Amino acid sequence: MERLDKLLAATGRWSRKEVKELVRQGRVQVRGRVVMRPEEKYEPADPIAVDGQTVSCGAFTYIMMNKPDGLLSATEDRNQKTVLDLLPEQYRKQGLFPVGRLDKDTLGLLLLTNDGELAHRMLAPKSHVDKVYLAHVDGKVDQRDVQAFARGLTLDDGLECMPAGLEPLEDASRCLVTLREGKFHQVKRMLAFCGKPVVRLERLSMGPLKLDPSLGPGQWRVLTQEEVRALSALMG
Ligand code: URA
Repeated sequence: MERLDKLLAATGRWSRKEVKELVRQGRVQVRGRVVMRPEEKYEPADPIAVDGQTVSCGAFTYIMMNKPDGLLSATEDRNQKTVLDLLPEQYRKQGLFPVGRLDKDTLGLLLLTNDGELAHRMLAPKSHVDKVYLAHVDGKVDQRDVQAFARGLTLDDGLECMPAGLEPLEDASRCLVTLREGKFHQVKRMLAFCGKPVVRLERLSMGPLKLDPSLGPGQWRVLTQEEVRALSALMG
């Protein structure tokens, strides 16, 4: 157990003095209840919110980002902007990194964390975490493509892909692709192999984590306690 003002100040977002002021103004809630005394003690894992926004006070930070076009999924790069550049200083100094990469021109759900064990488990091939992508293609996907995905493709360069889901949408120039692995440019390569090159790609979900529709491109938020719990449960 730790004092509330100490827990919140340890996130680096506010000084102890600022936390006391937030508490005094009734802007801090723990387990859904407004707390008026900064010296009250709680667990770092308790659901703490400031102005209704969940604040991660645990040892690790988990962030959901709607990755925009044009940024690298990396922690730093000498010449180009990375997704870390979208975060304020207090998060950049927490050692966050993206869990798996999206191509520079791919949009959508990116998880950033400093929890190396969770990241490792999510990315391990045997974890089989479903990743769902919305792809816009040049052409229309058909039942032959759906069956080829379901059987598992072997690409021209010999890359063997596990069976994957392919669901045509509307006029079939858009489709949902569900992968359980994450090889380099995999969605683009699989659809290109079927003669339907991808013109736009967006990740919608990773396991139980769904892209928050209220996040515009480039926006992010800390995961809720429920989302962290769902990820941890998935990983055992
Ligand atoms: N598959 C791709 O081709 N690109 C991505 O960014 C993610 C999956």
